Amino acid sequence: MSKIIIAIDGYSSCGKSTTAKAVAARMGYAYIDTGAMYRAVSLYFHQNSVSHTDPRAIATALENLHVSFNFNEKTGRNETCLNGLNVEDEIRKMYISNMVSEVSTIVEVRRAMVAQQQRMGRKRGVVMDGRDIGTKVFPDAEVKVFMTADTFIRAKRRQVELLEKGELVNLDDIVRNLEKRDHIDSTRSESPLTQAADAILLDTSFMMIDEQVEWVVELADRHIAKL
Ligand code: DC
Repeated sequence: MSKIIIAIDGYSSCGKSTTAKAVAARMGYAYIDTGAMYRAVSLYFHQNSVSHTDPRAIATALENLHVSFNFNEKTGRNETCLNGLNVEDEIRKMYISNMVSEVSTIVEVRRAMVAQQQRMGRKRGVVMDGRDIGTKVFPDAEVKVFMTADTFIRAKRRQVELLEKGELVNLDDIVRNLEKRDHIDSTRSESPLTQAADAILLDTSFMMIDEQVEWVVELADRHIAKL
């Protein structure tokens, strides 16, 4: 059967990753969380005090960092690795959320990540979630979904997620972080977050994860049936 690319873009904390992961599992596709890649780069920049305004330091950092994904059989999780070290938990913390959008505006960082994402999806059969998958990474993706949801509902979901990982964060701080990230992501000059002309809008405010997954799988199945 033909394998396609499913691009899921949208605002922060709309349930993109959870949906994309489950859709990939249902379809037997690979799942690639591109936000995790920008988070891992941010962690490297933080650990190595890389200045966001020093092109040489940025180029050296990009030569020295390698982001990869490792499927952990024990936890059943696809874990993000930075230079071979598992950084999955670290990159989800609030201090990384507070710096990742800035790091993602750096043109050289985007070029390196986009090139790697294109290599990872070249055989198709992938579900990729992010901000520019349907517009920049795979403009020829067969299925494109653009997710949105009410800001307060997104913040509540994020708060629960963080709490489950042991980090207690004030709701107002999360709302501020989401609004700031959405603003930076949507207004940056290099491939800003925007709905591709051929993407289908999905508002997840009042949807359960299972419904979101079903919705995307049906969309993909309809597309594959036409191939
Ligand atoms: O999906 P996420 O919230 O983990 O993504 C973290 C940040 O990474 C997000 O605020 C913007 C950036 N990002 C991006 O610029 N392009 C992508 N394809 C994915 C994420």
